[in-house]
Amino acid sequence: MAHNPKPVPSRRAFAGLLTAGLGMTALAACTPENSVPSPAAADAPSTTPSATPSAASSSATASAIASEPAPVTPATVTPAANTAPSSAAATQHSLTDPTSPWVVVNKHRPLNPQDFVPADLVQPNIRLAVSGEAALLNSTTADAAAKMFAAAAAEGVIMALASGYRSYATQVVTYNGYVASTGQAAADRASARPGHSEHQTGWSFDIADGGGACSFQPCFADQPAAVWAKANASRFGFVVRYPLMFHDITGYFYESWHLRYIGLEAATEMAARGIATLEEYFGLEAAPDYL
Ligand code: DAL
Ligand code: ZN
Repeated sequence: MAHNPKPVPSRRAFAGLLTAGLGMTALAACTPENSVPSPAAADAPSTTPSATPSAASSSATASAIASEPAPVTPATVTPAANTAPSSAAATQHSLTDPTSPWVVVNKHRPLNPQDFVPADLVQPNIRLAVSGEAALLNSTTADAAAKMFAAAAAEGVIMALASGYRSYATQVVTYNGYVASTGQAAADRASARPGHSEHQTGWSFDIADGGGACSFQPCFADQPAAVWAKANASRFGFVVRYPLMFHDITGYFYESWHLRYIGLEAATEMAARGIATLEEYFGLEAAPDYL
């Protein structure tokens, strides 16, 4: 079920989505959620595959190359041949190192170290809807974002950075705000607990429309910025990290505004193969809830 790329939504799931939407609306004001990079630079070698595996063996090979242990609880996920990178000839990256563009952070995979701070935070040369640390990204993501925002603008679509880097301390405030406003169950579908947010890696950011319409709300999915990003982000190395109806895998309801840099090659491959989540792409277990 967790691997069904088109899961059938349950009534309960829809109710949850609506609840989360209402919660996000209420929290919108206080949500600090906050050349395409050369593959050679963005995907600096960390390890090199020794051979080009067949598609059938790519899952195991990719995991091994990425130094990723086999899932401890494989019951929820049985990696299929089509759920792991097939581009094994390309540079592989760590799935655990927060400086890696492939790091997977979710409810089963906290940041290590927990207080990680990217060493190369910079303010991207893009339209900003925030200031301070929320206006920062790691340098690779900043470069890719600048190219993506420029390409969108060239097509008449204005994007703004609504939330970029978030420190552990800021995530404490963010998450606690959600809990206070919506209760813990709803909060856990919308906001990561401290030490579990991709925003802390510098690889993720949230976008807003030029006019700020529907920011952090379900209706943002229909705004030009989100529509454009969904269709084009992969060309710049990004994925929409929490796609619609994949919360049983990602742990979070649809966030049409949350983009994650994973590098051009992986992002374009995910798009080409119709793989929606990083968990499926890397053959990792689903992480709907905290362990
Ligand atoms: N909203 C995403 C899940 C975060 O808090 O990182
Ligand atoms: Zn986000």
